[in-house]
Order: sequence, then C-alpha cells, then structure tokens
Amino acid sequence: MASIISQCSLDVLRQAAENLKTGGLVAFPTETVYGIGADAENSEAITRMYAVKGRPADHPVIVHIADLDAVDYWAKEIPDYAIALMRDFWPGPMTLLLQRTDKAQDFVTGNQEIVGLRMPAHTLALNLLGEFKKLGGNGVAAPSANRYGAVSPTTAEAVSAELKDYLEPRDQILDGGPSLVGVESTIIDCTKDNPSILRPGAVTAEMIEESTGIIVVEPDDKKVRVSGSHKQHYAPQAKVYVDGAAKSGEGLIAMSDIETPSGAVRLSAPRSIEEYARTLYSALRGGDKEGLGVIHIVPPQGEGLAVAIRDRINRAASLG
Ligand code: TXA
Ligand code: MG
Repeated sequence: MASIISQCSLDVLRQAAENLKTGGLVAFPTETVYGIGADAENSEAITRMYAVKGRPADHPVIVHIADLDAVDYWAKEIPDYAIALMRDFWPGPMTLLLQRTDKAQDFVTGNQEIVGLRMPAHTLALNLLGEFKKLGGNGVAAPSANRYGAVSPTTAEAVSAELKDYLEPRDQILDGGPSLVGVESTIIDCTKDNPSILRPGAVTAEMIEESTGIIVVEPDDKKVRVSGSHKQHYAPQAKVYVDGAAKSGEGLIAMSDIETPSGAVRLSAPRSIEEYARTLYSALRGGDKEGLGVIHIVPPQGEGLAVAIRDRINRAASLG
C-alpha cells in the first residue's frame, strides 16, 4: 500500500527525495508515462522495485537525471551527435544509450556496458530529481510503473491500480496529472557511429536526423535487451485485435472519423495523432475496467508519432 499525494508542494518533493535517498520507492509523473523510481545507486531499493513490478532482475532500467552535469557521471565516450540530441530534446521524451562509467552498476545496466539516460520534461519530475541531487543523489532509476508486461500507467490512479498491492506504506505515488505524451520515450542507441532507434517514441527518426545531421540506421545489435521489445508487452487483460471489426459488447479504439459498429463500446475517438498517443493506454485500461473480453484497435496512419503508436498496438496484440 502507498498513498497518492495529489498536492505536490516543494515540501512534499523534498520529502519524496529524502525517501528515495533512504531506500524508498517513489512513483512520479513524466510527460511520457509514470515511472516507479528508486535511487540508481541503491541495489536493495532497485531489487525491491523489480519485485514490485514483477520484472526479471537482469533487465536494465533507465536512469533519470536532473541536468546535464549528471551525464558525465554515468556515461563516457559520448559522441557529438548525442550531445546534439541532448541539446535539442532534453528535457523530453528521449532516452539515450551510452557507454557506462563504473558508476552505472550491473543492477542498473542489466550487466551490459551501456547505460540508459533520460531527462524527463515534467515539472514535478525535474524538481524531484533536483531535490534528490541536493541530497547527494545522482540519478533515479525508473521503469514504467506497471506490472511486468502490462500497460504503462499515464495517471497516478493507474499506478495505484497496478502496484498498490506490492508497495510498502513508506513508498509514495506523486500525482502530476495525466501524462501529456502518453507513450514511452524514444530509446536511441548512441554507442555506434550512427544513432539507431530501439523503441520508437515522440522523438522521431526525422527529428533525430534533423538535429544531428547524420542518418539513423537500423539497429544491428539484436543482443541489446529492451524489455519493451518482448513480443507481448503493453498488453491489457482483454484480447486485442488490430482491426475495426468490433462486434456488440466488444471495445473499439480508432480515430474519430471511424464509426462505432452498433453495440460496440467506443473506448476512445482521438482527433489527432497526439491525442491518440495520449489516450491509448487509458483507453486500454478503460476496456479492462469495463470487463471487455475483446478490444479492436484501428491503428493510425502515417509517420512520426504514429510509428510509436503502431509499435505499441502491435505489442498489445502480441504481433510485435
Ligand atoms: O518514457 C519512458 O522511457 C518511461 C518513463 C518512466 O521514463 N520509462 C520506461 O521504462 O518506459 P521501462 O523500463 O518500462 O522501459 C525502458 C526500456 C526497457 O525496455 C529497457 O530494457 C531499456 O529501456 N533500457 C534501459 N536501460 C537500458 C540499457 N542500459 N541498455 C539497453 N536497454 C535499456
Ligand atoms: Mg515499461
């Protein structure tokens, strides 16, 4: 059990930072999805965070940082194009994989030589990370605040629904409103001559090429483990079909110009790609809440953020 704190004053954030520093877990909002945070240098706290998620212990976890000072603490041999990406997209929905320093221990990197870093664009997250830094902390390890394989939470209530049975009374859930992006950060491998995208997100290939002046290549190292790359992930309880053939009593998620078949339950009708991303996970949760056995999803067309949405839809349907 852990309570939701909805009025996150600076005092609350200070206390949450203190909690992290002494081994507590703090779920916090980001612009992508909510994360469940632990001190990235505290192996016991991270072990408990993995248990709360029900996630295998050898998975790497993203280290969230307050500012650019922390980059050199965690990473080395940083290519120029990664610096350009940090300049253009941090704070923001982007995670960079870089060569680790010895500060990034195996329990954070999943025994790999690379570390994942992200500076989130959410006032509460940045202030929490800033307060944590004042206490001598260097980064907060945070995966999405859901049980392993389940849909990422985009509200504090969804975090509570996922994890309340596993959290301890000392742990905290900070409420920062619904996440504005709604799908997880773009993960970019920056350990090669050219960047490659391991998980699509709101920072798109076109944006990366524009920022860095070099081309994005396909990942060649299939050994890099990205847990979101498991076939079934981001999955609700309901069975997901990638089509619009919703029958009576089944759920439908599709752009607003697509009509709801008679008797089907419309779970979301976004009018833009951004709204599609922002509402996808809450719509999947909504279907589960209503006890629907089947959800049909018509994926959005086009490039950019639509690529990330289709990726998550395919995984929710185990087609990834
Ligand atoms: O938007 C996000 O990235 C959210 C918010 C909370 O920041 N976090 C998130 O974390 O989605 P998670 O753990 O659910 O997904 C992060 C992915 C995982 O698939 C993990 O395997 C990969 O990033 N990852 C993290 N560090 C890595 C590393 N050192 N090497 C390879 N993959 C890494
Ligand atoms: Mg996740």
